[in-house]
Amino acid sequence: MEFVKLNNGVKMPAIGYGTWDLRGQECVNCVSKAIQTGYRLIDTAVMYDNEREVGKGMKKSGISREEIFLTTKLDHRYASYEKAKKGIDECLKNLQADYIDLLLVHEPYAEYISMYQALEEAYAQGKIRAIGISNINRRLYDQLLSVCKVVPMVNQVESHVYYPQLSYQKYLQEKGTVMESWAPFTEGRRRIFAEPVLMEIAQKYQKTVGQIALKYLSQNGIIVIPKTAKEERMKENISLFGFSLDESDLHQIRKLDEGKSLFGWYEP
Ligand SMILES: NC(=O)c1ccc[n+]([C@@H]2O[C@H](COP(=O)([O-])OP(=O)(O)OC[C@H]3O[C@@H](n4cnc5c(N)ncnc54)[C@H](OP(=O)(O)O)[C@@H]3O)[C@@H](O)[C@H]2O)c1
Repeated sequence: MEFVKLNNGVKMPAIGYGTWDLRGQECVNCVSKAIQTGYRLIDTAVMYDNEREVGKGMKKSGISREEIFLTTKLDHRYASYEKAKKGIDECLKNLQADYIDLLLVHEPYAEYISMYQALEEAYAQGKIRAIGISNINRRLYDQLLSVCKVVPMVNQVESHVYYPQLSYQKYLQEKGTVMESWAPFTEGRRRIFAEPVLMEIAQKYQKTVGQIALKYLSQNGIIVIPKTAKEERMKENISLFGFSLDESDLHQIRKLDEGKSLFGWYEP
């Protein structure tokens, strides 16, 4: 496993396991299986309604808590300083955890700065090892930077070959924030696994299209958290290391960038 160093020195795995839309016993089993397969970063959120199952899956895996990097996110239900403070304790309870490795404000709610201040406080108290934001565009990021005490360690945003947000990644990196990709496979919005450019490069390296799509982001300094419920794909997606894309591959893949979101949730 390769790691990325956050601005406070904490090491975060370069690839993790996304859990959106995994529920019930399937979620418990998938999280446990993913950890046994080698994943050490697990991504959940209050919004996914599966924190309890993620916590159970972590225990079921038999791997010690300290080896796992656990991310969760606070949503609109906690959109104030006081509510976010309460939310952190609820997350810890639901996850059956003594601490959270990374806690994010899930979306740019009107109160996202006061929510972030509650995260800063919990970070200072040692309940959380790193804090950050999600779906925050450059304008809102700059606003937050002008008032925050702790530079966000991570910003989790939409990022895939069709909209990698590479210039934003560079900007965030300069300021001390690591970009993390959600929907690295476009969540099914594009036929990414049949993309000719990726298929050709996959053949060249004897890798799969999925591995090339993830490697492109990873090689650009972006943490990836693909979701799959299938054990074979868990193994496939995590096998990202031990090879590098060359300049001409990067150039070819860069041409797929359409410069606009496939989801259109927020202004860029
Ligand atoms: N912060 C946010 O607002 C936000 C938003 C969205 C997502 N997220 C996080 O990011 C994670 C990843 O995003 P996502 O789950 O939305 O979408 P994704 O990872 O882009 O795509 C998941 C889809 O790809 C399929 N898949 C996975 N590996 C594959 C492979 N090797 N070959 C073929 N198909 C494959 C999965 O199907 P199978 O399960 O059938 O394999 C699933 O349908 C989420 O789980 C969540 O943790 C965060």
